[in-house]
Amino acid sequence: MNRERSTFLQTLLAALPLLLMGCGAQGPDWRTLQPVSDFGRLGADVYDDLIWWTLGILVVVELLLLYALLRYRSARSESEVPSQVHGFTALEIAWTLVPAAILFFIAIPTVRTIFELQGAPPSEDALEITVVGHQWWWEFQYPELGFVTANELHVPVGRTANLTLSSADVIHSFWIPQIGGKRDLNPGSENRLWFTPTEVGEYYGQCAELCGTSHANMRMRVFVDDSATFAEWAAAMQAPAIPDSAGAMTFLISGCAACHTIAGTPAQGKVGPDLTNVGRRTTLASSLIPNTPEHMAGWLRSPDSVKPGALMPDLNLDEQRVNELVRFLEGLR
Ligand code: CUA
Repeated sequence: MNRERSTFLQTLLAALPLLLMGCGAQGPDWRTLQPVSDFGRLGADVYDDLIWWTLGILVVVELLLLYALLRYRSARSESEVPSQVHGFTALEIAWTLVPAAILFFIAIPTVRTIFELQGAPPSEDALEITVVGHQWWWEFQYPELGFVTANELHVPVGRTANLTLSSADVIHSFWIPQIGGKRDLNPGSENRLWFTPTEVGEYYGQCAELCGTSHANMRMRVFVDDSATFAEWAAAMQAPAIPDSAGAMTFLISGCAACHTIAGTPAQGKVGPDLTNVGRRTTLASSLIPNTPEHMAGWLRSPDSVKPGALMPDLNLDEQRVNELVRFLEGLR
């Protein structure tokens, strides 16, 4: 074996574990093929159709290739020239018609699914949710229930969620692989997306439209709750925590209130996420870090090092103020 070839093989072998790491079950779960909503199911059904078609094509093409390799290998005389043919009308018609027919049979379920996902109006008792994309986090408004939250969407199982999507700045795209999407959030106009979740659980979502520095960090979590758990959560969200007044004062004088709202306090900023009941969220910083006092402190000290490009400025807080804010914010639940 020559040297280049052996280097090539070694590189290939070294890269194999890296490739296989992609198969691991660690980290957020982006499976589109295990849908947990009607929307996800329709998309996955199209995939299933396509897999069989492409598998069939693969087998036929590889068998033909194998046949040609064996049948026409140059085992016999080097000087023997195979019979020279120009044009074979029947074959040319066949290899034009067969792919056209296959594409036709792929197009039928694809187009039908597109119309199904766009066309069916949501049922009367759908839960209305307004989603606003921001650089780089998600705002979730529940207009009928009267509260706003961020980055963690709660929906009840078996009830249609009717999402109205728009953006506060640039184009984002809403995508929860197991539930639904992708659908764009455009500044200045509204898009719709509705789905009925079918399985209780916690699912991961991600912005799917390049939207700036921390596009890759614009994540979200979706909690599909049974109806009792959802009602409990909604009731807790409707009753804002009673903030302790010393902490609220620290929040105000540290400058936080210019961008954030905390219901029941003078903090009514609209630029950043609504922090009423922020202590109830399981994660912080668009679902990048767990909501613990340590992570909250790290975020307050330097938002940019947690989420590069974060629009929340470094407030140059001293440790005492960081501790006061952490205690205050974690208590909002
Ligand atoms: Cu928002 Cu990418």
